[in-house]
Amino acid sequence: MSRRDVSQPLSTNPHLCKWVQKMAELTQPAAIHWVDGSPEEYESLCAQMVEAGTFIKLNQQLWPGCYYARSDASDVARVEDRTYICSLSRDSAGPTNNWVDPFEMRRKLKTLFAGSMAGRTMYVLPFSMGPIGSPMAQIGVQLTDSPYVVVNMRIMARIGLPVYREIEKDSKRVVPCLHSVGVPLHPGQKDVPWPCNPEKYIVHFPETREIWSYGSGYGGNALLGKKCFALRIASNMARDEGWMAEHMLILGVENPQGEKTYIAAAFPSACGKTNFAMLVPPAAFKGWRVWTVGDDIAWLRPDANGRLRAINPEAGFFGVAPGTSVKTNPNAMAALAKNTIFTNVALTPEGGVWWEGMTETPPAECLDWQGRPWTPTLARETGAKAAHPNARFTAPASQCPTIDPDWEKPEGVPISAIVFGGRRATTMPLVYQAFNWSAGVYMGATMGSEMTAAAAGTLGKVRRDPFAMLPFCGYHMGDYFRHWIKMQRSLTETPRIFHVNWFRKDANGGFLWPGFGENMRVLKWIVDRARGRALGRETPIGWQPRYEDLEWTGLEFPRETFDALQGFDRSAWRSEIIGHEELFIDLHSHLPKELIYERELLICRM
Ligand code: OXD
Ligand code: MN
Repeated sequence: MSRRDVSQPLSTNPHLCKWVQKMAELTQPAAIHWVDGSPEEYESLCAQMVEAGTFIKLNQQLWPGCYYARSDASDVARVEDRTYICSLSRDSAGPTNNWVDPFEMRRKLKTLFAGSMAGRTMYVLPFSMGPIGSPMAQIGVQLTDSPYVVVNMRIMARIGLPVYREIEKDSKRVVPCLHSVGVPLHPGQKDVPWPCNPEKYIVHFPETREIWSYGSGYGGNALLGKKCFALRIASNMARDEGWMAEHMLILGVENPQGEKTYIAAAFPSACGKTNFAMLVPPAAFKGWRVWTVGDDIAWLRPDANGRLRAINPEAGFFGVAPGTSVKTNPNAMAALAKNTIFTNVALTPEGGVWWEGMTETPPAECLDWQGRPWTPTLARETGAKAAHPNARFTAPASQCPTIDPDWEKPEGVPISAIVFGGRRATTMPLVYQAFNWSAGVYMGATMGSEMTAAAAGTLGKVRRDPFAMLPFCGYHMGDYFRHWIKMQRSLTETPRIFHVNWFRKDANGGFLWPGFGENMRVLKWIVDRARGRALGRETPIGWQPRYEDLEWTGLEFPRETFDALQGFDRSAWRSEIIGHEELFIDLHSHLPKELIYERELLICRM
């Protein structure tokens, strides 16, 4: 087969071709490669990265189709303090976003990007967020000088030739995304395995729907379809067009009679979204199945009948590896068993991968995420981790054994319930249901999670993370709350709204709830409530199940423990509401009045 000339444009769209040319003039790449998205191209880029030392091909007997990468030690996570929403006015970005005047930022970016791709190839990477051709999908084109980004994006989004065809139709606006690792190569200069620049800028221009990302090759900083487009830019589009772009998993619960109920759920990072999306029901739930539609992002839109429908705009899972095992998440383990890219996990002598929590017994030796020798003894003595705590797998969603047969339906799946949650040792019961839509919006707006040891700050202090969107809402958080309130008007049937907390502790610091598969018991009550066939008890904060309202078959769970788990503690809720107020003060000038009334009602009920 003859090789394609990759420098030949694959699109005749004049806007796209002109923009590519303009950006090439700015960034000065040595070559341009129009990405077709084929398997041959993917393999050839991977081989090129193996040659360059960016990738290691894993033992193909153990890990077929899998590659391994180590990032630079300074480029391991999303950089929230370097992430900007450059709207025309500071007020539109709101107090929870970093803002710089867009004219000033453009000047800065033009200087940074000038010549930034010298000596490298600029890849033209068209991608669709959402199934191609779906009325809910959106198109972007990322120009990037990172082949690592191209191969990861091939897993995380739909890319290549079919997307150019969508662009030719010219019916949808294309979101331009420019990305450079910010390390130009001088003639003869040898490259490093993971080029990146200490100076980083992740910039969004909401009015012109543009993304400019400089300096990082990692995750959400560089795979621009994910957080930058599907949340920050899409939340702006959604507000203007009457839909919602949310940091939510989507799952379907099927009962033994074959009835399926879809749920979307928002949890802050590190609260087990991927595990919940791939839940395995306990043995006692014979005939029940949980189907996965998405594990991180949901786009929701009312259909012609006023029913809220959701798509997962992504095509893969960019999951946190540490803690993932056949015990905690067998479906994720099956999804990542082949055709997966691992970043910053440990490398075993057999050419396999390992991370903390993957197996009970660690390997006798391995190379850690920075390529240094690691042993269990060393870990005991120094606390050294084999894998970086934010080590990731990039795996195709289609490989997940529980992937929903309807996950790529262009019209999306109907959503019957919305669930909010966080990591809370006290105060928050296992589950309760909001009285109505506006009480549910208040619930989402005030949700929070305790800071874990990994984060800087006071251990156990609650960080408010409204709708789990704090780092991802591309405009003023108060206006975003208002948009949620307004969405009710376009719905003939509102999804029921719930709050869950798998992490409540007893006086000795032990978890009260076993979690994981047992969460199915809570899920069943949610489904039954959403379908109007389960009872609950009215409490000051909402509807709660009584002990006898949950299915307990197969689990010895004392009534007293359940009472402790569900208990409403008046004095804890007093402090909780004062905590809500702290957030509301910051957002006050944009806060919808419904939320102020909801807070008043909550206080009255107490
Ligand atoms: C993620 C996150 O990477 O939420 O999905 O941080
Ligand atoms: Mn996320």
